[in-house]
Amino acid sequence: MEISGSVALVTGANRGLGAEFVKALLAAGAAKVYAASRAGADPNLPGVVPVKLDVTDTASVAALAEELRDVSIVVNNAGTLAATQLTGTDLESTLGAVRENVETNTLAPLALTQAFAPVLAANGGGAVVNVLSVLSWFVLSPEGAGYSASKAAAWQLTNAQRILLRGNGTQVLAVHVGFMDTDMARNAPGPKLPPAQAAELVLAALRDGREEVLLDDVSRHVQAGLAHGVAGLYPSTGAA
Ligand SMILES: NC(=O)c1ccc[n+]([C@@H]2O[C@H](COP(=O)([O-])OP(=O)(O)OC[C@H]3O[C@@H](n4cnc5c(N)ncnc54)[C@H](OP(=O)(O)O)[C@@H]3O)[C@@H](O)[C@H]2O)c1
Repeated sequence: MEISGSVALVTGANRGLGAEFVKALLAAGAAKVYAASRAGADPNLPGVVPVKLDVTDTASVAALAEELRDVSIVVNNAGTLAATQLTGTDLESTLGAVRENVETNTLAPLALTQAFAPVLAANGGGAVVNVLSVLSWFVLSPEGAGYSASKAAAWQLTNAQRILLRGNGTQVLAVHVGFMDTDMARNAPGPKLPPAQAAELVLAALRDGREEVLLDDVSRHVQAGLAHGVAGLYPSTGAA
């Protein structure tokens, strides 16, 4: 995908990785970047058009796809990490947390991609970038189960949409990454990829026509661990 001259839509563009995507796309020569955020705030950068969007509001997603007819790259970046309590009797709280993860991390990128697919096709095919996670493949802790489940489902929907959209000439790029130095990973231990570097690596993969990119050693290590089954990823379980 040629980024120079493209028109991109980035969700969750007000902070973290999303804000870095906006800057990196402009630096790579994008003609315009729609910076979507819940507040619709103006990032005050030349070439950036602020857009108000809660990605879980499906009607707004559909309306936006009717309005922004020049988009050629959709970056599904917005995400949430709602801690999930898998024990106790408060089932509504458990299901509510899982729903929150799924609404934002799974259903929203599905809807955005589906709504914008005809727009991308009309503009020559274009590309969709789905920001997934190493936690699409792995549960770090029981509290993270809802997040992992939402990203695992998003991964499979990404795989399905890639197959469908090939016919339109649309590149669908899945991004897996361990920890990045953003608000979301504030309490996570260990090395964290600077989000500016993550955005650069994603754009390089986009330019190279890739369909999947692993941004760090954590995601490469965990992906390799899948080959060894449950014992490879969760050695203390003793499972075969
Ligand atoms: N940080 C990590 O270690 C890490 C690792 C792997 C994958 N990821 C993924 O990377 C992506 C970017 O996350 P980040 O690290 O930059 O996290 P972040 O700093 O917490 O930013 C999350 C962004 O998503 C937006 N967002 C959340 N729910 C939304 C909604 N319903 N509608 C619109 N925007 C919404 C937030 O907007 P508000 O400001 O309005 O809340 C914010 O802009 C996410 O998909 C995340 O799952 C992160």
